[in-house]
Amino acid sequence: MYEERIRNADLRNRVISPEEAAAKIRSHMVLGFSGFTSAGYPKAIPQAIASRGEAQDLTVFTGASTGPELDGVLTKAGLMSRRSPFQSNVDSRKAINEGTVEFFDQHLGLMPRFIRDSRHHHLDYAIIECCLVTEDGGVVPTLCGGSTQAMLEQADHVLLELNLAHSAKVYGIHDNYREPGIGCRRGIPIYEVTDRIGTPAIPCDIEKIKGIVITDDFGATPKFTPVDEVSTAIAGHLIDFLKSEIAAGALPEYLYPLQSGVGSVANAVLAGLMDSGFRDLTMYTEVVQDSALELLIAGRMRAASATSLSLSRAGLDRFYSHLDQLKGKIVLRPQDISNHPEIIRRLGVITMNTAIEADIYGNINSTNIMGSRMMNGIGGSGDFARNAQLSIFMTPSTAKGGVISSIVPMVTHVDNISQDVHVLVTEYGAADLRGKSPKERAEIIIETCCHPDFREPLWAYYKRALAESHALHNPVCLTEAFRWHERYLKKGAM
Ligand code: COA
Repeated sequence: MYEERIRNADLRNRVISPEEAAAKIRSHMVLGFSGFTSAGYPKAIPQAIASRGEAQDLTVFTGASTGPELDGVLTKAGLMSRRSPFQSNVDSRKAINEGTVEFFDQHLGLMPRFIRDSRHHHLDYAIIECCLVTEDGGVVPTLCGGSTQAMLEQADHVLLELNLAHSAKVYGIHDNYREPGIGCRRGIPIYEVTDRIGTPAIPCDIEKIKGIVITDDFGATPKFTPVDEVSTAIAGHLIDFLKSEIAAGALPEYLYPLQSGVGSVANAVLAGLMDSGFRDLTMYTEVVQDSALELLIAGRMRAASATSLSLSRAGLDRFYSHLDQLKGKIVLRPQDISNHPEIIRRLGVITMNTAIEADIYGNINSTNIMGSRMMNGIGGSGDFARNAQLSIFMTPSTAKGGVISSIVPMVTHVDNISQDVHVLVTEYGAADLRGKSPKERAEIIIETCCHPDFREPLWAYYKRALAESHALHNPVCLTEAFRWHERYLKKGAM
């Protein structure tokens, strides 16, 4: 019964089919889709746009990554020509790396500001998944805040996808709030993880709503690779490190609010917290994944603020069967508020993000494999790491079955600079880099984090750098710094 989910009588007359919605989309349009790390993205309308196949050269903006029914179909139909920000779909990634889709990456916390600054790209349509439309046209998103509020404000027209698979009881979990503008003389009044300062529905001009498509499908949901030996070891070192900080009086026993990045290693670390004796944990983060949900259900975690609930199919069932219990514990915010520097600093957030590779000075590459192959995007890692109380990066010490060292002489692309990296963790240990010079960092990273197979070659490189570098503050051997990467590209192993 969708009628009771559209509380405005006039809007009930605007229900249309996905095909009718798709027919409104023309070539060269700029589209803003809701969605953030596989949560809350529309599925029926992008699939209908792809099947129709007429609207070419589309610019596609989202909150962050979506799934095959959006990024996948639009890429495969050859309709998407520009894309931003974070994506993780196998087809869009391929097109970006083949050069047929122009992709520009940005800090996710800045995306709503980018959308609102329409000098760059004015949105023709906002296409938004929701679970309820209120009497005054307010839009209640499903499980993602993302950039939806900015898109609804900025777009000329709006198409809604009302997804009945999500319960309307989600109403009340969102806290929609517009970031104060430049020069505003007040801050953002969030002092606790669960402080609410906005509205449960996003205001929307009813006249802009050109159609509502009814769907009933969770769509593709994320799958996490099972926790393995390496991610368990990383989690173990990280948790031991946090405990040693507590023992030294540097952190309270409940820790400060945690931020955890995306991906399987991040999921494993939070799973590791379950059996580690911590209580009263909180999160001020971008994405709540399955393991954080389990911490909330088990009562180990008291509260979580995020911009999306990126849950597996089983995780969605767990969420909805515990919705009443969870509603007071979870707040979903727009991504500029979930990732806001002011609040991250104020709350003293402990950030835990994953790297593709790190160099011996502690610079982090999270995006571009071998310098040029885009993986997903920087996500919120920069928003959080720069402003963290304690910024931790982790990575398995090797990749691709051991032929690649994730600890290298110099990263081929820098997402997070060494100044924003306090601790680096691999399955071999945690290197505390705070207060250390580049040479001291190099020594501790090689000894603590590097895989034993690569440790001797890395020491050898570092000694040559010490001998040949034109200065001894940050010793680099310019002729060799990328030789490991070159060797992998030519010979298939570093
Ligand atoms: N060199 C080459 N390839 C590497 C590599 C390296 N040093 N390290 C990892 N890879 C490859 C893996 O082999 C894997 O490839 P595949 O998909 O072909 O199997 C891929 O990168 C992902 O690695 P995986 O170990 O599965 O990592 P993950 O699921 O934990 O994700 C990131 C790791 C870095 C890709 C992911 O965390 C990310 O996109 N981070 C950036 C955004 C971010 O930090 N957001 C959080 C802020 S809230």
